[in-house]
Amino acid sequence: MKHLIGIEDLSKDDLLGLLTDADNFIEVSEREIKKVPALRGKTIINLFLENSTRTRVSFEIAGKRLSADTINVSSSGSSVSKGETVLDTVWNLEAMNPDIVVIRHKESGAPKFLADNLKNVSIVNGGDGMHEHPTQALLDCLTIQKHFAKAGRSLDGLKIAIVGDVFHSRVARSNLWAHKLLGNKVSVVAPPTLVPRGVAEVYGDNVSVTHNLAEGIEGADVVMCLRMQLERQGNFFVPTLDDYTRRFCVTEKLLRKVAPHAVVLHPGPMNRGVEISSDVADGPRSLIGSQVNMGVAVRMAVLFKVGRGQLHE
Ligand code: NCD
Repeated sequence: MKHLIGIEDLSKDDLLGLLTDADNFIEVSEREIKKVPALRGKTIINLFLENSTRTRVSFEIAGKRLSADTINVSSSGSSVSKGETVLDTVWNLEAMNPDIVVIRHKESGAPKFLADNLKNVSIVNGGDGMHEHPTQALLDCLTIQKHFAKAGRSLDGLKIAIVGDVFHSRVARSNLWAHKLLGNKVSVVAPPTLVPRGVAEVYGDNVSVTHNLAEGIEGADVVMCLRMQLERQGNFFVPTLDDYTRRFCVTEKLLRKVAPHAVVLHPGPMNRGVEISSDVADGPRSLIGSQVNMGVAVRMAVLFKVGRGQLHE
């Protein structure tokens, strides 16, 4: 059985191979007829049991551009809202012979649990709790790779700053695994309460932690801003949102001073004026639109690999 559960499970060659495949798929979305027959006859179910705009639409478009039949299921319109367990839901879906189920779930580990308990369907993780969001990290890497290639630089040898609510972020965790594979230096920048415990031990010597924004982004090539995940936080993590913003909002003024050449990423949805200022989000160093654009190509590459049974567990 072939799945994509997390970047943690990939080798460096797997990661770079997916980026090469994704790069080749970019062109399909630029054609007048945006379709290739690669997954014709395959069925993909997008089971999004947590809110999503970008990821859900992007997986649906990716599946359709590969000529697969795609079906979208969300929690409010499904029997999950009647109390059915996710395993029972996917068991039932499996009985209709889909090839791939893309799942987003609020609980960390749900995709792995399904992959372990179902025999005849491939599982792709569209984001699980605070665990992983592998296709987001892949699209972040592709965006960075394409950008730095223009200056003759490669995806390794970069300094990446990950700023914000790292503790609740599956995007950060998947990126940490990716940059560990690539050997990039990563600076984790957050208040002490929003740093995952043991982050340097888990992700390796290239990771440093600071609670000072200017220090953490100094000389960075890439500043990755993360959303304050207020829906997962309660009121326990920062004194006030204003205080957080004063200390951790990534602004153009600060970037000019300490990281003048840095490009900026944000996985969306953004809280403008909280973790990122509008002059950065809409300014020339922002690669946010490119991230969304690369997302389709990355998901085409992942669905293609999983659909053809080439990704290992
Ligand atoms: C992220 C997610 O859902 O993990 N968004 C996304 O998929 N583009 C980040 C977030 O919710 O802040």
